[in-house]
Amino acid sequence: MQQFHKKTDITFKNSFEQTQFIDWRTQPRSYKLYPNFFRRYNINEYEELKFIKNFGKITTTKKYGKEEVSLRANPSAGGLYPCEIYIQIRGIKGFLSGIYHYEPLNNNLTLIHELSNDGLEYYFDTDSKKFIFLISNVYFRSSWKYENRANRYLLLDTGHQLASIFTSLKAENIKFEFEFNFDKKNLNKEFGFDSQEFFQCAILIDNEKDTKPKQLREPLISVAPSDYFIKNKFLEEFIQKLENEKFEEQIKASIFEELKMKNIQNSIDKRRSIRGFKKESISKEEFDEITKDIFSIASKINIDLYFINNNIKSMKQGIYKNVTLIQEGDFKAIGTKLAFNQRLGGDSCFTLFFTANEKSNYIISYIFSAFLAHIINLKCANLNIGCTGIGAYFDEESKKILNTTNNILYLQAIGK
Ligand SMILES: Cc1cc2nc3c(=O)[nH]c(=O)nc-3n(C[C@H](O)[C@H](O)[C@H](O)COP(=O)(O)O)c2cc1C
Repeated sequence: MQQFHKKTDITFKNSFEQTQFIDWRTQPRSYKLYPNFFRRYNINEYEELKFIKNFGKITTTKKYGKEEVSLRANPSAGGLYPCEIYIQIRGIKGFLSGIYHYEPLNNNLTLIHELSNDGLEYYFDTDSKKFIFLISNVYFRSSWKYENRANRYLLLDTGHQLASIFTSLKAENIKFEFEFNFDKKNLNKEFGFDSQEFFQCAILIDNEKDTKPKQLREPLISVAPSDYFIKNKFLEEFIQKLENEKFEEQIKASIFEELKMKNIQNSIDKRRSIRGFKKESISKEEFDEITKDIFSIASKINIDLYFINNNIKSMKQGIYKNVTLIQEGDFKAIGTKLAFNQRLGGDSCFTLFFTANEKSNYIISYIFSAFLAHIINLKCANLNIGCTGIGAYFDEESKKILNTTNNILYLQAIGK
């Protein structure tokens, strides 16, 4: 998988060759709609299902000229929203057991398959579950803008989406497991994805029954996930590799039990990506509250965190590896430059660099970098501190400045 990373580096040289102009009128539709005759259920009407809204509900609308854009609980690179969520539900009183598609725009669940003795568990080789949440990617929504580098944005958007599901469950104290090892290839076929959409990962919730559901009785109806589609060979190669990838080290949900988060619902409702900083400082206490558990969790899942401290009170300016200062100095101008000349990188109080070495599992490191970034985004929302993920950065230059051979996976600017 590392080869897909190297081939999508942004360098000083190739940055000039990138498309400078983008015609937003050609943006593919960012949500999937099953036909009207499918049965739909509004989440608001089912107390036990209300937490699902937190996965992706609309939390604000913004006007750009005449256009009104809806922004969701989950952030997305370029606001392109390549993730879709499918949910298998069993044993909820008054609710038909089935596989549903989640519609974030109106918080509906669309029934796409009624369960009998069959179920998604078959593809996970596991016993019966109360809920299975599956995240898929519609790659063209991202490749439309980011071309081949969309492979990274898809993983990052997936990580944020996974964390949105995680925090929604955490707010309700619901126990779950992450799952990356399942028969993605067959499941992509059963869902009629036809190479336009593919599964990335899942979250499973047990229902303490050891029956083993059978293979789906029939394939599901194939529905185009966008209004049009342009094939990308590089990304299809990436999907093929992903379908055959074995994940030996699974990430245990218990690693995240130590994570302390206050007022989760308030954070979910308020979370946004900041568009510019006022260049005010934050205190050391605020920095600690945002990052404390993050450093310790990152080290357990082989993510190496670096940060540039531009403006945290009572802490020396400079480059840090985890919490250790490795080079003192004012790196604001460099921070901006590394973030593809975006001022967010240098105007922040600190800019985090999520990195991983080539021995760690590429997919897991990528998805969980964005997962941790999402938790930080929520913590910031609660503290009224601004924050944004940055997917556009110079790869090799960042490595040089941080003095690392690790892959640079994601940047995040945090400040006031
Ligand atoms: C993976 C990822 C990469 C992003 N990269 C950038 C970036 O390079 N520059 C930027 O200004 N915003 C970036 N954003 C922020 C998005 O533009 C933002 O999430 C989107 O417009 C929706 O707004 P919201 O997060 O306030 O809901 C990124 C977001 C994600 C999830």
